[in-house]
Amino acid sequence: MAVVVIGNQLHTEKITLREQASFPVGVAVSPKRIAQSEYAKVVGQEFSSLTAENVMKPQYIWTSERNYDFSKGDSLVAFAQARQQQVHGHTLVWHLMQPDWLKNTIESYDSATLENLLRDYIQTVVKHYRGKVVSWDVVNEAVASNGDGMRESVYLQKLGDDYVARCHQYARQSDPDVLLFYNDYSIASNPKKLNTILEMVDDFQARGIPLDGIGMQMHVGLDLSLDDYQKALDEISQRGLKIHLSEVDIKVNSNGKQTTLTPELAESQRELMSEIVRRYNQLPEENKFAITFWGLRDNESWLTNHTGFPQWPLLYDHDFQRKSMYQGFLDGLETAQTTVDK
Ligand code: G3I
Repeated sequence: MAVVVIGNQLHTEKITLREQASFPVGVAVSPKRIAQSEYAKVVGQEFSSLTAENVMKPQYIWTSERNYDFSKGDSLVAFAQARQQQVHGHTLVWHLMQPDWLKNTIESYDSATLENLLRDYIQTVVKHYRGKVVSWDVVNEAVASNGDGMRESVYLQKLGDDYVARCHQYARQSDPDVLLFYNDYSIASNPKKLNTILEMVDDFQARGIPLDGIGMQMHVGLDLSLDDYQKALDEISQRGLKIHLSEVDIKVNSNGKQTTLTPELAESQRELMSEIVRRYNQLPEENKFAITFWGLRDNESWLTNHTGFPQWPLLYDHDFQRKSMYQGFLDGLETAQTTVDK
């Protein structure tokens, strides 16, 4: 068994995720939230890695064709540096949440104009954060939602099938050291999507396109198939890539019928958290990049708006109390040291 202490006891024992895990443990944050003192304290104590939930996306940085606003991302980097935390960059290219000016003009650009703009954006941003972020999600969610080939986004239509590879090359030209990730959802739950991504990986590796890792977002529910999750871990790690569980949250109220987080649901969530961590921790050291939670407290999760119901998907509750899911994370670390049944 792992360290069996829950709730306030964990605070008194001064156990923290960043001390317990042998790999970085991260959280997605916003500048507004980390400006609050209790929030900043918990984030600083618990986590060794930060991702900007939003402010390093083009929507926030790319203010017009060749103008960039790094102020919010910079504030987050300064916060992290003061706490010896690494920063993961999210994300250089995404078909969603583009700045308004780009939404309004993108259809009017010819291919060469859009390619030049996107290349300049990627290179400027990567150069700006060189030495300040350890890694980037270069392109986010470029594969079709159901996993059947590439997503029919405006980037695919205008820039062609190979645009993801070129984005990786542009990023690498601007920073030879930063780790480059492809990031997507449902990799652990949709075998077709996993296959499409593996085909892309194999193609990149055959052609020498720079790619250091895969971000498996892990927006999952209690019905996650552990076999599918394990297969994704195995297939990606066998290709020598790093794996980032990049946006972890565990929904427990898919049908919206729950009005509270019952002890039974909290227990199921704890068990799944433990198993996710246990299997991740069994990967060879070189394949473990980080596990990042998509928010700190249940009440701030994007899932409430997205699903229309509370989902209690994160490690902490509204009152900054550690949930059973937190204990599940610790249990997963512990059992990995003694279990070899892969
Ligand atoms: O900043 C405005 C604020 O001024 C305004 O008061 C408020 C009112 O709704 O909206 C704020 O912007 C919202 C922003 O989050 C910050 O809270 C946007 O409307 C909202 O669309 C945006 O949602 C984010 C979403 O990505 C789209 O960018 C979520 O917070 C964020 O969790 C989510 O994250 C994505 C990952 O990047 C990629 N993977 C999936 C994941 C979940 O969708």
